Amino acid sequence: PLPLYFKGHRDNIHYFPMLNSTMDKARELARADASHMSAVVAEVQQSGRGRLNRKWVSQEGGLWFSMILRPLLPPPLAWQVNFAASVAMSITLKKIFDLDVRVKWPNDILYQERKLAGLLSEMETEGDMISFVIIGIGLNVNNSPSKAEPNAISIMDILGKPVHRRNLLSDFLDQFEATVDEHVKKQKHSSDSASFTPSIITQWKEMTGTIGKKVRIETYDDFFEGVAVDVDDTGALLIEKDDGTICKVIYGDCFHQGV
Ligand code: BTN
Repeated sequence: PLPLYFKGHRDNIHYFPMLNSTMDKARELARADASHMSAVVAEVQQSGRGRLNRKWVSQEGGLWFSMILRPLLPPPLAWQVNFAASVAMSITLKKIFDLDVRVKWPNDILYQERKLAGLLSEMETEGDMISFVIIGIGLNVNNSPSKAEPNAISIMDILGKPVHRRNLLSDFLDQFEATVDEHVKKQKHSSDSASFTPSIITQWKEMTGTIGKKVRIETYDDFFEGVAVDVDDTGALLIEKDDGTICKVIYGDCFHQGV
């Protein structure tokens, strides 16, 4: 794989050859006052983690990073920055590589139904304010993830050649900053704090492959199937079951089953 060479490219990117998880290092730096939009990148993670307490295999060649955000949002609206991150990643991949990617609810990036990137977020609050949000992204770039996870794919698998991760990360960070700024600014200038929601959700819906699909939902203690009919203004997935009832899913796994 190509070297990362991140050091010095942007002064708020902290690069490490190896970490347990960029989530933990980002949290440590955030507690020590690291600025909004700083990022932590690791070439390799020894205990990378995914959603729902899963292990995230993080070998050389991938792009494993976490960003520190200090959005001016009340904690119940923090999920919006996750949607902004998957929107920004889709835009970036389309712009640089012309990849027709789709977002799978809540925030996975898929290429032809195979997983190209996953997103994990963690938050710390202080009173009724967000102190910081850490958004971690694992993007398969010059690695071969399908050895460990048959349903995963990397950019190198798609394009047939390795690509520069530095440019990719820096373009993504620019795009993400713009997406967050646009929506947070809108909210700051509005007396209606819910006005952020529709705009990021509207944009997210243009990029998703989940709506209209038959899906299987798995939560800790339940599973069921239905058709994904919409995502509401709180980011919840709405599933229509066979008997016509609508089920609202706020947490869990969603597997695409077909159209
Ligand atoms: C998922 O799809 O379950 C989310 C995967 C998130 C992986 C990234 S890699 C960088 C950051 N550090 C971690 O330990 N996890 C996230």
